[in-house]
Amino acid sequence: MIHHDVIVVGGGLAGLRAAIEAKRAGLDVAVLSQVHPGRSHSGAAQGGINAALGNHPEGRDDSWEKHAFDTTKGGDFLGDQDAIVQMTKDAIEVIYEMDHWGCPFSRYEDGRITQRPFGGAGFPRCCYGADKTGHYLLHTLVEQAYKHQVKLYVEQYVCKLIVHEGICQGVVAYDMIRGGFEAFSGGAVIIATGGAGRIYANSTNALINTGGGMAMAYHAGVPLKDMEFIQFHPTGLYSTNILMTEAARGEGGYLVNGLGERYMEKYAPKFMELAPRDIVARAGQTEINEGRGINGQPYVYLDLRHLGAEKILERLPGIRDLAIHFEGVDPIEEPIPVVPSQHYTMGGIDTNVDGATIMPGLYAAGECACVSVHGANRLGGNSLLETIVFGRRAGADVFRYLESRPDKRPPNARAAFAAVQAMEDKVEALARAEATENAYALRTEMALVTKEHFGVFRDEAGMKAGLDKLLSIKERSAKVGLRYTGNVFNLDLIRTLDLEGMIDVALCMAMGALNRTESRGAHYRTDYTKRDDANWLKHTLAYYRPGEAGPRLDYKPVTLGYFEPEERKY
Ligand code: FUM
Repeated sequence: MIHHDVIVVGGGLAGLRAAIEAKRAGLDVAVLSQVHPGRSHSGAAQGGINAALGNHPEGRDDSWEKHAFDTTKGGDFLGDQDAIVQMTKDAIEVIYEMDHWGCPFSRYEDGRITQRPFGGAGFPRCCYGADKTGHYLLHTLVEQAYKHQVKLYVEQYVCKLIVHEGICQGVVAYDMIRGGFEAFSGGAVIIATGGAGRIYANSTNALINTGGGMAMAYHAGVPLKDMEFIQFHPTGLYSTNILMTEAARGEGGYLVNGLGERYMEKYAPKFMELAPRDIVARAGQTEINEGRGINGQPYVYLDLRHLGAEKILERLPGIRDLAIHFEGVDPIEEPIPVVPSQHYTMGGIDTNVDGATIMPGLYAAGECACVSVHGANRLGGNSLLETIVFGRRAGADVFRYLESRPDKRPPNARAAFAAVQAMEDKVEALARAEATENAYALRTEMALVTKEHFGVFRDEAGMKAGLDKLLSIKERSAKVGLRYTGNVFNLDLIRTLDLEGMIDVALCMAMGALNRTESRGAHYRTDYTKRDDANWLKHTLAYYRPGEAGPRLDYKPVTLGYFEPEERKY
């Protein structure tokens, strides 16, 4: 058994920021990650990070209060307003902290950090480094993690929490390089494993974004909150769903249908292409569904040609590369074929504003968590912000938790041993199974079901049919086995172990969506087209029921107090 004061699971922005904060407080901190932290999915974020710095000439009157209001309204009033206020207040400080740590933000001539317009924002407040902001922030934090001597364990697949007498005391990890399970005990665990995009077939997310951290907490009895709220980014590359950043529209790009119209005029005449993502994604999908895709095909165009080569090369070089290499289109010369694509999980592990869950010793931060600041629809530029603000807060609170804990006994060795044994038994059973189902085929099937039945538009009949399919996939998943039993880099084992959690997370999303008989933010039902505050201004909580097919659903109130819910118009 390996011991550290704090075990952080996930080496992206939230995990690294949490680790650095806990380390700076004097704790011994380890980060366990499936990939080297520099390859975490945070690095794929492109457009920027929001903070009301007021640097843009048209943003001088911006303030954290306006940022908080835009975020609340963008989220269709489902976000907890105390958390939103906390995030938007902290935003300014964390940007300057990243700046001082060397993050190479783009600059105005006077040296201040540049800001660009982003969707649903009243002012240009999205700070950026060209279109590689996530990459720059991530590498800045990787450097800081090394500087602060955070212990990194890479290529570790964390699959189970160690829980003793209701308290989280560590994790079990599979060593992907050498094989074998190991217990990592700690006074506290922070899960920061990112979103669950890969439960969808049409996701912008990396292959490791399976929702594994969410599933681990859920299986240990911690509820997942608001899982029905799935964000579709309006501009995924047509052939691959690779992200074409919202910054392309922030810099002035147009969305155009097969008739050559800038169709956003019909859906959001004031904000146009910079309406919030749920609205822009629905608009694009409507154009496609009604036959106004390009040449009747299921995509629309993101047209940047009028921006000119100089601006594209300076501000959007990354997406130009991606469009050339993955779609064969140079945006300087041609419009880019795009399609709404799953992008973000608004829901996640239920936490308070310090990242604490209902289980003592267990924290979560970043996309795997639901604080909740994004409500029913996240604004672009707020996800990078959430990772750093709430990663930092979780790291600080872990210190307070460990200081204040009355029971200072070391983690229970028997509990750790039993958790490792449970994983070894599970793998043994998979290796011996006479498999009649294939884990990869089931994963693909599941991801196509979510895409088809729980997409941009939803209705009861479609969701019921989708839920039945998911339940049948869950039943069939009991009949999978291992095709390869070697120790070295056994991805067959990893992907097979992923499957149970992915299906369970998909079921939380599906049942939450079916139950919620209203339209709010990204959850749009064609059979209940209106928001229904009287009945549904509340969070969904999904609890694991061992031995049962799906979760038990419960609800809890939204924290209001700053902004009265109003109709969203853009
Ligand atoms: O479009 C983008 O660059 C994505 C930003 C975000 O998800 O916040």
